[in-house]
Amino acid sequence: MLKFGVIGYGYWGPNIVRNLRALEGCEVVGVCDQAAGARKRIQAAHPGVTVHSDYRELVKSREVDVIAVITPVWTHHELTKAALENGKHVFVEKPFTSNVAQAEELINLAEKKRLQIMVDHTFLFTGAVRKIKKLLADGTLGKLYYYDSTRVNLGLFQHDCNVIWDLAPHDLSIMNHLLHKEAEAISATGQAHLNGHEDIAFITAYYPDKMIAHVNVNWISPVKVRTTLIGGEKKMLVWNDLEADEKLKIYDKGVDVKSQEGVYNLLVSYRSGDMWAPQVEQVEALKLELNYFLECLSHNKKPTNDGVAGLKVVKMLEAASESLRQRGALVYL
Ligand SMILES: NC(=O)c1ccc[n+]([C@@H]2O[C@H](COP(=O)([O-])OP(=O)(O)OC[C@H]3O[C@@H](n4cnc5c(N)ncnc54)[C@H](O)[C@@H]3O)[C@@H](O)[C@H]2O)c1
Repeated sequence: MLKFGVIGYGYWGPNIVRNLRALEGCEVVGVCDQAAGARKRIQAAHPGVTVHSDYRELVKSREVDVIAVITPVWTHHELTKAALENGKHVFVEKPFTSNVAQAEELINLAEKKRLQIMVDHTFLFTGAVRKIKKLLADGTLGKLYYYDSTRVNLGLFQHDCNVIWDLAPHDLSIMNHLLHKEAEAISATGQAHLNGHEDIAFITAYYPDKMIAHVNVNWISPVKVRTTLIGGEKKMLVWNDLEADEKLKIYDKGVDVKSQEGVYNLLVSYRSGDMWAPQVEQVEALKLELNYFLECLSHNKKPTNDGVAGLKVVKMLEAASESLRQRGALVYL
């Protein structure tokens, strides 16, 4: 029975506590939040759980095996480091840390202490991403041309980071998980209209073999959109995460170039075949993810979404921030 202490009970923390409490093989022994209002909510929702206001009590507790860090990104390094130093495994929110140096320090510390880190890249455990991974692995889409994601809505404005650090970790972690290739360079543009942090941004990632990815993130959109297009040589896919039933649609559409002898002789044929919507599993992603973490801990196995996966995303976020400062200049990874 693995015993968890959870730090942070704001917007996302309650989902972690609820899922952990529903899983077999683990127990939530304490939840900590520095805000009095959050502590009241913990008590009301989970009367049997010990509530703390100081995270040090939880990370030092002999009763705790694993710490979940569900606080804003600028606190992740301090809290994760304290947990590892006290011999606890860590489940930490995305993005892993505020910069590359912090992530590297935590990975080395975990190695030294023989502890596991899992970074909450929740989307990797959704039915849609698991299905897309299968479609890529079995060659259904063919050679990939592009990944193009739109992740926009009105708010929630974060006070400590811009829209790239808030929303793009989802896409970057999905891209790293699906593409089996690392981006070579990144370019990003954006603007800060309201609170000094960029509220709209466009990131382009260049991959080997002419593969390109684009991510559009925006907190000031009138409508919520969560749509990703993935274009392959054989098939093209649309993932609309807001659809309840048919989240994925695969189109047998494409372009074949028959001859390339000069622009005027270019023979292009367009293929427009069937569309189908494959079955996508509807299990809550967090539940699967936390269950997988328990499995990794009990078999001393490194999770796919370990500290190194978290670091890769932070590297891309840092490169995007650097490019943003230079109005879109290409930053090599
Ligand atoms: N995986 C996902 O899909 C997903 C979704 C939402 C948020 N998140 C991530 O979860 C993290 C938290 O986001 P949120 O929206 O819940 O933020 P939030 O501001 O709503 O909640 C954070 C909570 O942490 C508490 N806190 C901060 N520092 C603390 C400390 N040192 N000790 C104790 N308590 C402390 C705050 O009082 C607050 O209640 C962020 O990293 C965010 O990116 C992930």
